[in-house]
Amino acid sequence: MEPPVRRPFIAGNWKMNLSRDESVALAEGIVEQLGEASCDVAVAPPSLYLDAVSQAISGSSVGLSAQNMYHEGNGAYTGEISATMLLDVGCKYVILGHSERRHILGECDKAVNQKTLAALAAGLIPIICVGETLEEREAGKTQSVVQQQCEDSLAGLTNEQMAGVVIAYEPVWAIGTGKVATPDQAEEVHADLRRLLESRYNSEVASAVRIQYGGSVKPDNAGELLSQPNIDGALVGGAALKVDSFLGIIAAAK
Ligand code: 13P
Repeated sequence: MEPPVRRPFIAGNWKMNLSRDESVALAEGIVEQLGEASCDVAVAPPSLYLDAVSQAISGSSVGLSAQNMYHEGNGAYTGEISATMLLDVGCKYVILGHSERRHILGECDKAVNQKTLAALAAGLIPIICVGETLEEREAGKTQSVVQQQCEDSLAGLTNEQMAGVVIAYEPVWAIGTGKVATPDQAEEVHADLRRLLESRYNSEVASAVRIQYGGSVKPDNAGELLSQPNIDGALVGGAALKVDSFLGIIAAAK
């Protein structure tokens, strides 16, 4: 049997940037100029603007993603947002365990795991971020760090749930620094992750899961990264804040 073809997936993580008007204008610009994309596309605006962006992309092929959520369904959790609330405003995806949440806001694998299970139970597609720091890479620990993050963040998922998850490999040293991982460096980690999925789940799951690369992806480096056999898309930060550069990356995902 032929392995499934993984449709490339390009997502823009806007982080804590843009005003409400700028968010809507960016979303509208993407929708207007996207045309027939040969990949899945999503945008992840700040949570406060999810609703406005949801309306701006309504009826288009652009999907909506949140940047975070809380694992509980509802209740006394001041400041938090549940999976149901995200679905309510039209989210299809949720980014979980981004390195900025892990390193700046102290989010641990256990919290990422609770959120992942809650997101899947509610019907959201989680985009689970993993990645090593420069110190860990230089100490030769890339493989063990990334594998441990995956195992702990994805504990307790069924094969079927795992097959629908998106993993984003984002080396921390490449995020927002302009220092992109070379295609070989990224492919090595992506291939390791796929082998891990094969050993923990099975070959169907391993060949179904999309693994995005993130970290200083730009229109001029996207083509080479995305042509690697195990790189199935990109999670884009800075270059996702402008219509032209985001569409340039999408165009490279052929
Ligand atoms: P940059 O593309 O700005 O390096 O950010 C990557 C990222 O963190 C996406 O989630």
